[in-house]
Amino acid sequence: MKKYIYFMMAFAASLVLVSCEGPMGPPGENGLNGTDGTNGVDGNATCLTCHNLTTKSAVTAQYDESLHAKSTTVARSTGKTCSKCHSHEGFLETLLTGRDTTAVGVPIPTRVDCQTCHGFHETLDFAKDGPDYALRTVKPVKFMAYKTVTGNLGGTGNLCVNCHQSRAMAPGDNPSDVNWNQTNGTYTITAQNTRFGPHYGPEGNIMSNNAGYKTGTVQAASHKSLGCADCHMHRPEKGVAHHKFKASVDACKKCHTTATSFDYQGKQTEIAGLLSTLKSQLIARGILNSTTDLAIPGTYPIDLAGAFWNYKMVYSDASKGIHHYQYIKAMLQQGIAASAPTK
Ligand code: HEC
Ligand code: HEC
Ligand code: HEC
Ligand code: HEC
Ligand code: HEC
Ligand code: HEC
Repeated sequence: MKKYIYFMMAFAASLVLVSCEGPMGPPGENGLNGTDGTNGVDGNATCLTCHNLTTKSAVTAQYDESLHAKSTTVARSTGKTCSKCHSHEGFLETLLTGRDTTAVGVPIPTRVDCQTCHGFHETLDFAKDGPDYALRTVKPVKFMAYKTVTGNLGGTGNLCVNCHQSRAMAPGDNPSDVNWNQTNGTYTITAQNTRFGPHYGPEGNIMSNNAGYKTGTVQAASHKSLGCADCHMHRPEKGVAHHKFKASVDACKKCHTTATSFDYQGKQTEIAGLLSTLKSQLIARGILNSTTDLAIPGTYPIDLAGAFWNYKMVYSDASKGIHHYQYIKAMLQQGIAASAPTK
């Protein structure tokens, strides 16, 4: 009952207050506008362009089609000289140690995969610091065969150069190479070294004017400031960076608007022709085995061994001139001159 009385009293008081309110006064002057606050970054929108299942599955589907994913060479990584480039485990170990080989072979190697190339972002302030693809490294690469030479490509290209580089020096570049007879100018290819050459992927060296035999002075690559990804990971208008790693003509069109194929200005045709001339000359000179495409052991004038080396460089680069037309042509010209038929 008491509660009720208090309530009634409070109610009556409020009526008194309301009824006591007089007529409204005139409106006051408008206050000054406050300064606009800075726009907040929509954290979700920034992150979700990449971090969502649609993107991830699109990238993964492409990746599974790539030679990185389908690799037939992972098993080579049980050897410590091969694991750096042919396995996930070897790449991460050598990235940390800075060495060319792992301490021991990787007993159960796994393929190069998302987490081989990607780790964590350096920055999440993309507006200020530019795009960050959470790559393990984009640092310039000290070449494993040429310790005093550093390759530095544009964009994210340096990541690729870590693996896509020559494993050996051109003949004559290593003063303590026992196969090089500096007195009589010959070079010996031994029976254990029929795979004489740079190994399969010297793209990083070629784009940096490195590892060719007697090329003379050549201008820097027209495409040097491009990263490998600019051509090999082209993004379609609405899509993600291409994870099949196949070069695309659409990428070329960004700069060469009239390009309809990779054979822009007929350069690939020209290079393929020179490469085939060199190949037949090397076979005729008895240094190249036409069946295995490997070297025939023997002692040769060093310029002929160099011609063989250049053949392997251009063949393994596999771009038919596109990576660095001028340098690739210079290698072929040396090769063709040095392997010319003897009368
Ligand atoms: C341009 C694409 C892109 C954008 C935008 C992006 N990320 Fe990433 N992020 C990646 C990639 C690629 C990886 C590494 C591969 C993976 O883990 O999927 C990664 C990895 C990560 C990881 C580590 C995951 C792990 O498993 O180690 C975190 C955490 C992360 N991102 C947070 C963010 C946040 C927070 C934002 C927004 C501020 C963001 N990312 C925006 C592409 C992006
Ligand atoms: C961890 C080492 C490693 C890194 C990093 C790497 N690659 Fe590779 N790449 C390989 C190996 C090894 C193969 C060959 C796989 C096989 O045949 O088993 C290969 C194959 C390729 C091929 C296919 C070649 C063919 O004959 O069809 C392309 C193209 C390629 N890589 C481009 C790139 C690009 C572009 C990057 C950088 C975005 C890159 N790679 C980064 C090791 C690497
Ligand atoms: C510096 C990195 C690197 C090292 C070290 C390396 N490789 Fe490779 N290897 C590559 C790359 C990159 C490719 C792919 C090139 C391409 O397809 O254009 C490749 C390709 C190959 C292929 C050819 C695959 C095919 O498509 O036919 C074989 C075989 C191979 N490597 C064996 C080995 C062996 C054996 C070792 C160790 C003795 C070794 N590699 C060490 C980078 C390396
Ligand atoms: C200017 C564009 C461009 C750049 C930059 C570029 N490439 Fe290529 N690359 C090509 C083209 C074009 C081919 C030949 C494709 C063909 O003829 O089918 C090719 C061929 C290759 C091949 C042979 C296998 C294949 O897919 O045909 C490999 C491996 C390769 N490039 C790796 C690299 C690496 C690693 C880098 C950076 C060091 C790089 N490329 C930079 C355009 C480029
Ligand atoms: C051989 C190295 C390599 C591997 C393996 C790799 N990526 Fe990438 N990824 C890159 C590079 C380099 C870029 C940046 C491309 C550029 O520079 O434009 C990238 C970009 C991306 C992006 C951003 C796409 C965009 O359009 O901005 C995503 C997401 C991504 N990767 C996810 C993955 C996932 C998921 C996998 C495994 C299925 C994977 N990546 C495997 C090298 C790699
Ligand atoms: C970011 C711009 C850019 C892209 C992308 C690009 N190029 Fe080029 N390219 C150049 C420049 C700059 C030159 C030197 C000047 C000229 O000849 O136009 C050049 C020159 C060339 C040459 C003449 C020989 C040489 O190396 O100097 C060929 C052939 C060529 N590019 C083919 C290609 C192909 C094929 C692609 C795609 C796979 C491509 N380019 C992608 C910028 C680009």
